[in-house]
Amino acid sequence: MTLGDLAAKKAAGEPIVMVTAYDFPGAQIVEAAGVDVVLVGDSAAMTVLGYDSTVPVTVDEMIMLTAAVRRGLTAPLLIADLPFGSYEASDELAVATAQRFVKETGADLVKIERGGTSVDRARAIVAAGIPVVGHVGLTPQTASSLGGYKAQGRTADAALRLIDEAAALQEAGCSLIVVEAVPSEVTAALMPHMHVPVIGIGAGSDADGQVLVFHDLLGLYAGVRRASSSATRTCGAR
Ligand code: KIV
Repeated sequence: MTLGDLAAKKAAGEPIVMVTAYDFPGAQIVEAAGVDVVLVGDSAAMTVLGYDSTVPVTVDEMIMLTAAVRRGLTAPLLIADLPFGSYEASDELAVATAQRFVKETGADLVKIERGGTSVDRARAIVAAGIPVVGHVGLTPQTASSLGGYKAQGRTADAALRLIDEAAALQEAGCSLIVVEAVPSEVTAALMPHMHVPVIGIGAGSDADGQVLVFHDLLGLYAGVRRASSSATRTCGAR
């Protein structure tokens, strides 16, 4: 699977399937199920490391998990989540962290959260030759500043801000955009602005694809629920 294949799927209206994985057998299972893209999400902090949020997970922990997933995959694209605190402070930090993930794990893309300064970080990482995934809506790394694990974009102003953020990340060179926990009407309003694939989670069925957390998919996670978790069970792929 390549970014070109994902663009072709978008153009053909074929749903893009993304699932998280955090270890070698999990990677083999999701590949055998036929997914297009595997995300080593920082949801690993909660699903496999037992933290109560995604904030504490470290670069070294994510690198170990991402490298294990890489060893279990052949065809799907592999995205590594850059953890909280590992890219926000400067373009230099963002590029250095992204380079570590590519060098030490073999990830194909890295994912960062939010608009704002993350738009500059995305531009810098892309300029360094590493494809980037943006993430808007509910951004768990900064959930406390959003009032907790709550759906986002629920007023007209908030919806417009979210659309602007996604468009700015696209303009900065992001190859994919994840939209988490927003009303389906907001995703529908976003789609005409996006020429790169948009992957939803708890964001309705208008996105180009859906991403699900492995442990939510299998009903394995009994810790803190994210706003998108229960929603994803009902939104499904289109
Ligand atoms: O960390 C994660 O698993 C994610 C997905 C839910 C998009 O960011």
